Amino acid sequence: MKEKKMIDMAREVLNNAYAPYSNYRVGAVVESSSGRLYTGCNIENMSFGLTVCAERVAIFKAISEGEKGFTRIVIVSDDSAIPIPCGACLQVMSEFSEDNLEIIVSSKDGRLERYKLTDLLPNPFKFDKRER
Ligand code: THU
Repeated sequence: MKEKKMIDMAREVLNNAYAPYSNYRVGAVVESSSGRLYTGCNIENMSFGLTVCAERVAIFKAISEGEKGFTRIVIVSDDSAIPIPCGACLQVMSEFSEDNLEIIVSSKDGRLERYKLTDLLPNPFKFDKRER
């Protein structure tokens, strides 16, 4: 089952997280519309504001490989709390979401919750493209 594979991959890539400041490791796997999977982990920086979340690393890797959109994302943490994606990552997901992206989140103990992007971000930022 592909979902199980995505969860296993997310738990694996979590080991690559660079998180010496928070000690909070996150792994993410996105499924593109073409069916391919892309992984990401959080990457922190001593200049804290430069930290990038696991979700955006996975999405940006995929976009840079030519993907256009996503149908599913799995996010896992090594914490007892379920890793609900931050607002910045939800906004990035909304840019590339196809068919109301499914968001599957799982904590260290394997507890799992499922959301749709519009559950977590019902009103994403939008503007009408204009000629300038
Ligand atoms: N983090 C993620 O990777 N994804 C999120 O959606 C929220 C937070 C990371 C960033 C930072 O390295 C650590 O978790 C603590 O904020």
